[in-house]
Amino acid sequence: MKTKMSEFNYKDGQLLVEEVRLLEIAKKFSTPCYIYSKNTIQKNFLAYKEAFDKDQNRNHQVCYSVKANSNLSVLKILAQLGSGFDIVSGGELQRVIRAGGNPSKIVFSGVAKTRAEINDAISAGVKCFNVESITELKRIDEVAKNINRVANISIRVNPDVDAETHPYISTGLKENKFGISIDEALNVYKFSQTLDHINIIGVDCHIGSQLTSLLPFIDALKRVISLIDQLEKIGIEIEHIDIGGGLGVSYKDETLPTPKDYIESLLKTLGSRKQNLIIEPGRSIIANAGALLTKIDTIKTNDKKNFAIVDAGMNDLLRPSLYNAWMDVIPVIENTSSSTNVYDIVGPVCETGDFIAKDRILSIKEEDLLCVCSAGAYGFVMSSNYNSRGRAAEVIVDGNKIHLARKRETIDDLLNGEIII
Ligand code: LLP
Repeated sequence: MKTKMSEFNYKDGQLLVEEVRLLEIAKKFSTPCYIYSKNTIQKNFLAYKEAFDKDQNRNHQVCYSVKANSNLSVLKILAQLGSGFDIVSGGELQRVIRAGGNPSKIVFSGVAKTRAEINDAISAGVKCFNVESITELKRIDEVAKNINRVANISIRVNPDVDAETHPYISTGLKENKFGISIDEALNVYKFSQTLDHINIIGVDCHIGSQLTSLLPFIDALKRVISLIDQLEKIGIEIEHIDIGGGLGVSYKDETLPTPKDYIESLLKTLGSRKQNLIIEPGRSIIANAGALLTKIDTIKTNDKKNFAIVDAGMNDLLRPSLYNAWMDVIPVIENTSSSTNVYDIVGPVCETGDFIAKDRILSIKEEDLLCVCSAGAYGFVMSSNYNSRGRAAEVIVDGNKIHLARKRETIDDLLNGEIII
């Protein structure tokens, strides 16, 4: 059996990540547990970098989108490869700095940045703010003035392009809250010019996540280019275009353009234009580098359904409950002796919406380990303490070495800061 994750493979009926058996990780760190392959993270990042390197005439920066997976060790692996970072909060800024990321390669996106966040980001020396509104633009100018600095900005434009993805993760349409309408952008750039502590350097957009076609990206880029033409006519020079993130991964049977296809078509669309290019990929770097390891606690059958109740719930992995996302679930030990049935894989949380997967054909029994595939992106970061459950451990595998990258939360961790009055 083959998996969608290049470094998760079966050998003699056992699932391995790189050279380590998942069974061994479960024995050492228990379940539920997130597991990431260092090699896959590196390969995924380098696929973008190598595609860019073919165009020697254009500067570029891959800014990994921290929100997809913000574990400090993951960030460190990427920082060591020269990655920049796309952040959306002061918390993410601190993570990047503590992981050794270079602040001058940080772009600060995010919907309503606070004064404190803006202050910290300017002081740290981030490359650029991706501005979401006029209120925010004025706020950045004001904060920069207070500390006697000038802040670099791009306006995040909303190009009104349909990303053809799940409505919750589509961001580039007029009905979405993000950015400034591309029709108003020219005026906002003109206004930016009047602010003494603002320095215009780019145009930014991000149209959505889990895109499976290149056409919406190209459509958005063309609209951004035509805005840049108008800006140049009135003497506003643009150094870079930030086209955001969004390239999808294959969870089931989706066919995807590769990072190489993606970068080549962006560069082709840019043609002889001089602007540098920034991209903010998250999912396509970390999703298929990671998986969630979970154990079957109980098998339960009623008149209608067979349930495999596992020890990972919606608090550990929210994507299936929130987006009805399909994630592959495979056995850690190929088991031919158990009878094959159709199961709903559900968690222990007290909600009907607490499920990991529905209607899956599996040969399983109680105590078996299961692997939820491609859970490296938007997995741990969206986990919570709902039902007073501690968050899972995170492990990074590098060849035959297993590194604990985050301890499992204890009840003391959960109660820390709570006050009985
Ligand atoms: N840049 C900006 C401004 C973003 O809002 C996002 C993602 C990215 C970059 C990275 O996009 P990616 O390359 O990962 O598609 N929780 C959802 C996904 C939410 C995406 C939010 N924005 C999920 O589990 O599918």
